[in-house]
Amino acid sequence: MKIVKIDPDGFLEDDLKIPAEILRKGGIVAFPTETVYGLGANALDELAVKRIFLAKRRPPDNPLIVHVSSTDSIYRIAKPNRIAEKLIEEFFPGPLTLVMEKREVVPDVTTAGLKMVAVRMPDHRIALKLIELAGVPVSAPSANKSGKPSPTKAEHVIEDFSDEIDCVVDGGKTEIGLESTVVDTTVYPLEILRPGAVTKEMIEEFFDVREIRKAEIARSPGMKYRHYSPSADVLVLTGINVRGEMLELAERLRSSGKKPGLAAMQLGKIHDFPAYDLGKNLEEYAERLFDALRSLDRVCDVIIVEGVEEKGIGAAIMNRLSKAGRIYRV
Ligand code: TXA
Ligand code: MG
Repeated sequence: MKIVKIDPDGFLEDDLKIPAEILRKGGIVAFPTETVYGLGANALDELAVKRIFLAKRRPPDNPLIVHVSSTDSIYRIAKPNRIAEKLIEEFFPGPLTLVMEKREVVPDVTTAGLKMVAVRMPDHRIALKLIELAGVPVSAPSANKSGKPSPTKAEHVIEDFSDEIDCVVDGGKTEIGLESTVVDTTVYPLEILRPGAVTKEMIEEFFDVREIRKAEIARSPGMKYRHYSPSADVLVLTGINVRGEMLELAERLRSSGKKPGLAAMQLGKIHDFPAYDLGKNLEEYAERLFDALRSLDRVCDVIIVEGVEEKGIGAAIMNRLSKAGRIYRV
């Protein structure tokens, strides 16, 4: 596996020539986006896409998002309706993925046999330039082994993969830290299949939209799988006086022989448990969450996490936490 280190604020086109070449020739390249690192391959090359499923150990019925660097290329792979066109105009490039009717050129492996394709244009200089240089649409799931927390640093990708992938473009930490919002534009009201940084409230400024419930998960193949899950148990506490409850729970677990760790916003040093600071607001929390889960997983067997209110990006945070572990209201 080749590692190409790149400064997102000051790189030259030449720095991305080799990774782009690897993509064009059917290889697999992990690269940063504004959400999380993606594991990229030429979306139109069936064999290359199959290699992604193998490397990730991803179930073949879970379709991939196709990444583009220009509006023109959206039309080559999908048929956006008027609603999709408006959302593209408002939110692309950005952390929003649109499910649209697909065109013939997109092979069935990429969409797991669905007639719809999910498309996204990342708001990240390295990702956009890499896709442009590769000259092909790039299918890219999050660059983690299936079931593990998504990678927000190149180190996370390297942790999960070795020779199964050809190259990692290391462009530093990802800014948002949670995967994109996935919206089905082929139904009305629109459906949020996965919440993310483009919130329900933001989309509601233009269209009616609802978030699909757990009972309807069949609509979004990815939602039925266990996710974001470290080896440690993840216990999420929400409600008032959560801090006190977290510490008490940690004490109790420790006296029963467990190794608990804490992830919370600005917890401070009022305890002696391994801890990860999730920052001072929900944006910092989102950016740090997956790194917190991965870091604490190395030293703990139970991770106690401070839950948040399900507003704005808080909805996406709680969605990921509900998949990583169990939520308790205290
Ligand atoms: O932020 C992101 O979206 C990252 C970065 C790398 O762009 N990618 C990502 O991909 O999170 P992945 O494969 O981990 O998640 C894709 C989600 C899954 O829940 C999948 O089921 C859903 O999108 N999806 C993909 N194609 C779909 C389709 N045609 N119809 C419905 N859902 C689809
Ligand atoms: Mg994923």
